[in-house]
Amino acid sequence: MSDAGARTPVHEALMYTDLASWYHLLTAPSDYAEEAEHLIAVVDRAGEGSTRTLLELGCGAGTLASHLTERFACTLTDLSSQMLAESRRLNPGVEHLEGDMRTLRLGRLFDVVLIHDAIDYMLNERDLESALATIAAHLRPGGLALVVPDAVSETFAPGTATGGTDGDDGRAIRYLEWTHDLAPGATSYAVDYVFVLREGDASARVEHERHVIGLFPIAAWERLLARCGMDRLELPVEDPFAAEHVTLLARRRKAG
Ligand SMILES: C[S@@+](CC[C@H](N)C(=O)[O-])C[C@H]1O[C@@H](n2cnc3c(N)ncnc32)[C@H](O)[C@@H]1O
Repeated sequence: MSDAGARTPVHEALMYTDLASWYHLLTAPSDYAEEAEHLIAVVDRAGEGSTRTLLELGCGAGTLASHLTERFACTLTDLSSQMLAESRRLNPGVEHLEGDMRTLRLGRLFDVVLIHDAIDYMLNERDLESALATIAAHLRPGGLALVVPDAVSETFAPGTATGGTDGDDGRAIRYLEWTHDLAPGATSYAVDYVFVLREGDASARVEHERHVIGLFPIAAWERLLARCGMDRLELPVEDPFAAEHVTLLARRRKAG
């Protein structure tokens, strides 16, 4: 079991490496259908011109994307080869590429670029700006950026959640997710995860790891989006998940 105080760098996170094959038991693809429906409604209402092609940075196990591939021609990217393998299984026939959202350059433009909860791993303004610059580098003029952090400074609240399911292959997992702040006014917070894993028989394995998550005020998001050539837009439809995350929408400037 890992040291309870240590932070796990994201490229070593058990959840995205050794435990990646358990990801869809932690969070079932069906749980993402409504959220995907909301994002599609946002694009349908705010889009100008074609909204056919979509690039996702940090697609993880492709859970959300599995509800987007009918509406969009998707290109899915992530840092973790193990998570991409899970996404490929869930989204066969969809283009998948390995890459870091801070540096990826495909040399192609898309109508929509999405970063869902993977944006949480940008821990300072420099990395956040690099990720937003990657969005801008892949957006056609007038195209839409959708960025969905779990929280911004104004909405952060500590909390706990539990979940997990039994697979049909004899594996079962349960987790505790404990979100807490590190220091008042800090630009990051911690999420302690405890996983209990069972495979076939009655014995159980317990794993703990701490993820550190970036936290930025709305004004910083708007400033960095603008510096990357994108202007924040109001959401054109109400967000049914406003209590759980923040949906930031922006349009790539047509010039400048
Ligand atoms: C919570 S998971 C995303 C799950 C995803 N929303 C889904 O629907 O399955 C977070 C993902 O962010 C990825 N990630 C973290 N930092 C990244 C980076 N710098 N570039 C690309 N992906 C990154 C991790 O590898 C992990 O797969």
